[in-house]
Amino acid sequence: MPSLALLHASQLVTLAGPSRARHGKELSELGIIPDGAFLAAGGKVTHVGKSTEIEKLCGRETEVIDARGCIVLPGFVDAHTHLVFAGNRLDDFEARARGETYEQIAKRGGGIQTTVQATRAASEDELYALAEERANWFLRNGTTTAEAKSGYGLTLEDELKILRVIRRVGMETPLETVPTFLGAHAFPREFREDRVGYISLIIEEMLPRIARERLAEYCDIFCERDYFDVEDARRILTAAKQHGLKLRMHVDQLTNSGGAKLAAELGAITADHLEQTAADGISALAKAGIQPVLLPGSVYTLGSKRYPDARAMLDAGLAVVLATDFNPGSSPSASMPMMLSFAVTQMQMSPAEAITAATVNAAASLNRVDKIGSLEVGKLANFAIYDCEDYRELAYWFGISLMRDVFVRGERA
Ligand code: NIG
Ligand code: FE
Repeated sequence: MPSLALLHASQLVTLAGPSRARHGKELSELGIIPDGAFLAAGGKVTHVGKSTEIEKLCGRETEVIDARGCIVLPGFVDAHTHLVFAGNRLDDFEARARGETYEQIAKRGGGIQTTVQATRAASEDELYALAEERANWFLRNGTTTAEAKSGYGLTLEDELKILRVIRRVGMETPLETVPTFLGAHAFPREFREDRVGYISLIIEEMLPRIARERLAEYCDIFCERDYFDVEDARRILTAAKQHGLKLRMHVDQLTNSGGAKLAAELGAITADHLEQTAADGISALAKAGIQPVLLPGSVYTLGSKRYPDARAMLDAGLAVVLATDFNPGSSPSASMPMMLSFAVTQMQMSPAEAITAATVNAAASLNRVDKIGSLEVGKLANFAIYDCEDYRELAYWFGISLMRDVFVRGERA
């Protein structure tokens, strides 16, 4: 079996530890090996240690990568993206600079609806071509797994089209994708006067078909004023659970609608955004063991100053996750290093906590912590090499890509 050895990393950031999400002080434990190395075969890590030990295990056939002067991390796991859509939202972007808000733009028919029209008009192949290019953006920023949501189709056929594109990206590019159904992203124009009708379409036609075709692992919803309220969310997500889907939820992004508490009540796997969540919501999440997915890119892009209270969540023992929320409206970034920067400068997370939130905790939130999120024996050889010598530099040099090389299952991607 061809083997691969990575030698002499200034810091091999392994994230070694229990095969589950990390809480409290555990987020600060990166399992760094100075002059670190590992050996991989068959796409998996077989040995991890000091370079002097691993060197001895190399044979004549072993491909050796010298990472001198560099740090090496497991591939980032981005647990919240809207990867597949057509068009862009440059007009919204410019309108916000003139002072219009995200909500005002949505009310006059811009926002998500613009992207829905463009996505419906695009063919499956066109959407795939766009998503393939974006998959490369993720890889070039060190991300090797991305959760990806539908939600810009909002008809049965268009939602299926997006989910098939998500699956194809996972099969035909090196980026692993984890599919989430987000039919409850917004009420489509044609159902503006018949909200109950759209909810019935989701429950009676979309969910059964998507579950039958195994096109999604998770079901998500945008629980927000003018979108889906707590009652709508309870109905839709209860039906989703009956179809065997696990839950992720957009909650308390623009207003505090009690979404965090609903996530706790429904036993969601994650509650995402949480910018407006107060102390009672945080303790409800803690009691129910739900992972918060924090999305600072959307706070930044919308020009808000209100970042989620990561410190309170960490102190409450929550297994915090960081993600990009990659989407055309509120977070057009595929860069996890950028999210690390926001986490440290705007959310008072330490660089180590941010890295744990972007790797092993994210992997746990996607039910994949046995395979990805750390560099340990038996896990996939998904990793990236960065041109710097201290892991804190990843969050420090913002807007500059230090990525030298990225590998998926032991192969250069
Ligand atoms: O997570 N909040 C809803 N969904 C996205 C934004 C989608 C869009 O504006 O296109 C988000 O921020
Ligand atoms: Fe989102």
